[in-house]
Amino acid sequence: MAPTRPYYAERSLSAAFYDTVTPADKGLAGDLEVYASLPPPGGSILELGAGAGRLSLGLAERGFHVTGVDIAPAMLAQAKVRRAESGPAVARRVEFIRGDMGSLALERTFDAVICPEFALARAPRGMAWRNTFATAARHLRPGGLAAFHLPLIEAMRRPTPETPDLPVLNQPTASGGRLKLYVLDRQFQEDVGRLDELIRYEELDGRGEVLRSSDERLTHYHADPEPLAAAEGLMPDRDPIEIGGVGEIRVYRKAE
Ligand SMILES: C[S@@+](CC[C@H](N)C(=O)[O-])C[C@H]1O[C@@H](n2cnc3c(N)ncnc32)[C@H](O)[C@@H]1O
Repeated sequence: MAPTRPYYAERSLSAAFYDTVTPADKGLAGDLEVYASLPPPGGSILELGAGAGRLSLGLAERGFHVTGVDIAPAMLAQAKVRRAESGPAVARRVEFIRGDMGSLALERTFDAVICPEFALARAPRGMAWRNTFATAARHLRPGGLAAFHLPLIEAMRRPTPETPDLPVLNQPTASGGRLKLYVLDRQFQEDVGRLDELIRYEELDGRGEVLRSSDERLTHYHADPEPLAAAEGLMPDRDPIEIGGVGEIRVYRKAE
């Protein structure tokens, strides 16, 4: 039987195969371009929940100076390997730091603070959300922009697929095998705005034999971000930008 683990935990397949899954995730299509449009050319960006560095490194490649913060050592280890593998000019423009987006205090400000790929929605709404908006405001220069990628409630309400034995993703792996993902269960609790999913990761070898599998628990929360942003002096800067039909990026400006 496959072990059950939280997403991005040590030994989780979600952490190990983050770079296989994310490029194939249509729910993220075009997000890098949105974040790259926020700071001035060559400006500074703080990424909260930087994961394996997909965006931090992509933004550094575009000439921005990026600090990526993540709480999970398994993700930061991958980000640091990718940084070491990038060219020296890119590596010089990006740093990865272990930290909690709810309490981070770097004592410096940035042109933009981004919280991509539902990183905030993975935290229980309430104090953790409030603290993350405070972190964003604390690290923004006056007039700077904060961007939060949040799930659409309509997408959170979708039921468990009727055919859970059909993979929702089937991708080649670097070692010549395949990675298959199945949504085994989805439960949305409307009253508390909480979506719980159980996702099976299966790694197969070139002959189709299962090498590893793991059932991983993923939880997302839904809340109205507007009052939390306003409480920190962050005002809506534009209409929400829909991404991939499942989420939207909300952009706020810190008062001058
Ligand atoms: C879905 S990944 C996003 C990675 C990256 N931003 C991207 O778009 O490719 C979300 C990340 O948020 C991190 N995370 C969750 N809670 C956090 C917290 N309180 N502080 C910092 N990072 C956190 C997780 O460890 C995970 O790596």
